[in-house]
Amino acid sequence: MTTQEKIGQVTQLIAPDTTPEMIRKGEVGSILSDTDSKQVARLQHIAITQSRLHIPILFGFDVIHGYRTIFPSPLAMAGSFDPRLEENEAAMAAAEASVGGQRWTFAPMVDIARDPRWGRITEGAGEDPVLGAAMAAAQVRGFQGSNLADPHHLLACAKHFAAYGAAEGGRDYNTADMSLERLRNVYLPPFHAAVEAGVGSIMTAFNDLNGVPGVEDRLLLQEVLRREWGFRGFVVSDYDAVQELMVHGVAGSPQQAVQEAFSAGTDMDMHDGFYLKNLPALLEAKRISMARLDEAVRRILRAKIELGLFDHPYTAADAATAATHWLTPATRTAARVAEERSAVLLRNANGLLPLSKSLDTIAVIGPLAESGSEPLGHWYGDGDPKDTVTILDSLRRRLPNAHILVQRGVAVEGDAEADARAGIARAVAAARQAQVAILTLGESAEMSGEGGSRSCLDLSGHQEQLLEAVVKAGKPVVLLLMNGHPLTISWAAHHVPAILELWEGGSEVGNAAADLLFGEADPGGKLPVSMPRTVGQIPIYYDHLNTGRPGAMTTRYSSRYLDLPLGPLYRFGYGLSYTTFRFSNLTLSAPSMSPDSSIEIAATVTNTGHRVGDDVAQLYIRQRVATMSQPVRELKAFDRVTLQPGQSRTVRFNLKGHQLGFWDNASRFRIEPGTFDLWLGDSSAGGLHTTFLVK
Ligand code: BGC
Repeated sequence: MTTQEKIGQVTQLIAPDTTPEMIRKGEVGSILSDTDSKQVARLQHIAITQSRLHIPILFGFDVIHGYRTIFPSPLAMAGSFDPRLEENEAAMAAAEASVGGQRWTFAPMVDIARDPRWGRITEGAGEDPVLGAAMAAAQVRGFQGSNLADPHHLLACAKHFAAYGAAEGGRDYNTADMSLERLRNVYLPPFHAAVEAGVGSIMTAFNDLNGVPGVEDRLLLQEVLRREWGFRGFVVSDYDAVQELMVHGVAGSPQQAVQEAFSAGTDMDMHDGFYLKNLPALLEAKRISMARLDEAVRRILRAKIELGLFDHPYTAADAATAATHWLTPATRTAARVAEERSAVLLRNANGLLPLSKSLDTIAVIGPLAESGSEPLGHWYGDGDPKDTVTILDSLRRRLPNAHILVQRGVAVEGDAEADARAGIARAVAAARQAQVAILTLGESAEMSGEGGSRSCLDLSGHQEQLLEAVVKAGKPVVLLLMNGHPLTISWAAHHVPAILELWEGGSEVGNAAADLLFGEADPGGKLPVSMPRTVGQIPIYYDHLNTGRPGAMTTRYSSRYLDLPLGPLYRFGYGLSYTTFRFSNLTLSAPSMSPDSSIEIAATVTNTGHRVGDDVAQLYIRQRVATMSQPVRELKAFDRVTLQPGQSRTVRFNLKGHQLGFWDNASRFRIEPGTFDLWLGDSSAGGLHTTFLVK
């Protein structure tokens, strides 16, 4: 390869910045975000037939939770506590995307997020490293399959390396600053899990971590990723992040930016063309070695070979063929089941849900009932809002003979006072005439996702006023929450009898919601993230340290707020069902273990109610005394079970020594002897309790 051809391989551009001439000269190795499948095929054809070495272009796209069939957001799906469901979602999304000509997805987003103000919290698995790691690995398996060369699979990309979710104040792109102990114990495990699952690429983070922007972080890219984890794939920058080194103020010129990023280990440059423009001079001046360029090119070519791109460079099907692969009954059913398993029942006073199908008058109120676009979220792939089954569509179909009174009430945001007042009055009138009011409230897709940070997580616009007015109308109210960020809903939590968190529910949100509302499906999802009472409590997460003065309402001198009760509004791992469960018979195979052995834990879960339902058995531990403060609890394992009324099932977990260790601030992994508490239950509070010893 000529130097120019090599530099082409480390360059990723968007189609509008790519000319046929550049492709002929081998100046572009990858193109992102081109969903025009005819154009994809045309550009690929130029690369294959008219460039000197016939190297195919790698087309990449953000297939985050679906391509044409949009599944629930990753945050929602994490609430399923069902990695197999996640794996299946990723596999289906990969198959749809490859028919659109894509072979690389910028997913999974595996950033742990403990600040619900951060808009991108919706793209990841929430606050917990063990759940996050399980979901990360599942997505890698799903996207990449067992044989990457199968054209229905995509190369996955774990992002954003690292600690992007810890952006200060929840402001996107912001600084992250943390101890190595926290980085390694909390933020890195999902990346490590993705690498262990064989992820083919890694994307660096925009943010600086301890003063070092992601694209030039040698500690992460060299020490951790390559040396410790043995990662063999390639690293891509985030969009324009090489150029942004100058804005961060760590590079004084484009050449310096490229030298920093490329020599630190960022193999491919996304979008800004900085490698293309600046590597020639840097190589010439020997500020970058040819060996380093060869290494990066080799990694990228290896990925192309493993993807089978040289054998079948064209996966984009013509429109008619593609249509038979997209939004099929199978993908739609999968998206519907995914949403049913992800939704979280937050409240169900007096068993208001499930509703009877013989209702004859219902009011459907709120700005989101008829929306096809908002449930798709900010990353909706190549999805089309017209393909969404809305809440209203499905209710109409489910209750063909009922009288359905539809009132938008207010907009998600931006209504003038007078319009809101009038809308609320109409909604209240509708509620009064109905046997039950179903309210759809939450966020538009644009209110979360990238650049979607919010300082206030209350229901926006006049939605809270609408909610309170409708509740005061005196009829039973079901609140369907449709949102990207976790919201602060303290009033609703005390006054609205039934609350179902649907998150950004995807193309089948309506069908799933109707199944859940009428009891054709049982809500069994759990919160993958704590829901705060107010933003003033943020960050709030369940696996915090104990402090020297743990929060207690009985004393001022404890770790709490004077003006709030302790804890979040709804805790991590929480979620109700239409049935009830009991945990019993917690047993351990031995009272103690050594760091290199394991212990078997078993318990019985019984469905004590009258309906079939799902519960998630969650195993938490705490080391009582160690050389460093340890979290008050840490999730170690979970298992989602479906039980018939009266049925019991034994859940079993194998806890290994290495799951009990932690990283210290000198990057040493330690498993320390001592007493551990163990809880087994169905949320991050309570549960059956015992202790065991590590010797
Ligand atoms: C985002 C990435 C995304 C990339 C390409 C960036 O702005 O941070 O997550 O993969 O754009 O669309």
